[in-house]
Amino acid sequence: MGQYENIMEAVESIRARSPLAPRAGVVLGSGLGEFANRVADAVAIPYGEIPHFRQAGVAGHAGRLVLGTVGGVPVAVLQGRCHYYEGHDIEDVVFPVRVLGKLGVGGLLLTNAAGGIGQALRPGDLMVIRDHINLMGLNPLRGANDERLGPRFPDMSAVYDPAFQESIAAAQAALGLQPKKGVYLALSGPSYETPAEIRMLAALGADAVGMSTVPEAICARHLGLRVAGVSCITNLAAGISAQPLSHREVTETAERVKNDFIRLLELVI
Ligand code: HPA
Repeated sequence: MGQYENIMEAVESIRARSPLAPRAGVVLGSGLGEFANRVADAVAIPYGEIPHFRQAGVAGHAGRLVLGTVGGVPVAVLQGRCHYYEGHDIEDVVFPVRVLGKLGVGGLLLTNAAGGIGQALRPGDLMVIRDHINLMGLNPLRGANDERLGPRFPDMSAVYDPAFQESIAAAQAALGLQPKKGVYLALSGPSYETPAEIRMLAALGADAVGMSTVPEAICARHLGLRVAGVSCITNLAAGISAQPLSHREVTETAERVKNDFIRLLELVI
């Protein structure tokens, strides 16, 4: 069966578990999964029970789809994602986002943990993504195009919806959080960057670096969804601080800011 049929099979299996018609989709990044516990009237479906979904492999990624409401808005939350660096095909990495699109969400909020490059960023900051740079070395739309998923050459001149960026900035202000905005750059990982690479990425215009989000954003725009992105700056990028990088620092920072992160997402939705 083709990709489209697999997507629709997953959609049907989700509809059989919950009649909810979600308006907004959310993807929760490393260490940021706790938000899913704030979903009211939740139906949680482990990825293993949805046809063609891959397991989320990283510590701090639960791996379930949570359907319910947040502040009365019907949402579909992907608690955990699978990453390209785990060895998955890129079609599998973007599969859940396409399923949310075909479930009917109009807007998609992508979140991630990222290293801070821009001078103004500090660990614990929540950065609104205003644009991205794809240096993963691949594009998820490579191959035959299925028009049912979007056009052959989708426009990427405004991936991150300007109105969504404004609402997130307004929510940050309302919560007394420093409003930060920047460009997210994606590499394939899984090794962290070298200091020389970070100097290169800074010269290229990146404010934050990570290993996800960009393929999902591309496929969401391909589908015509409105996209928003928030990076939790969990650490300063390599060479910017003297400290070596560790996944532990990433999850500890995410844990430290989780209340701000949850309140921000609740307001934005
Ligand atoms: N580099 C790449 N990915 C990351 C980082 C980083 O410094 N922090 C969290 N994810």
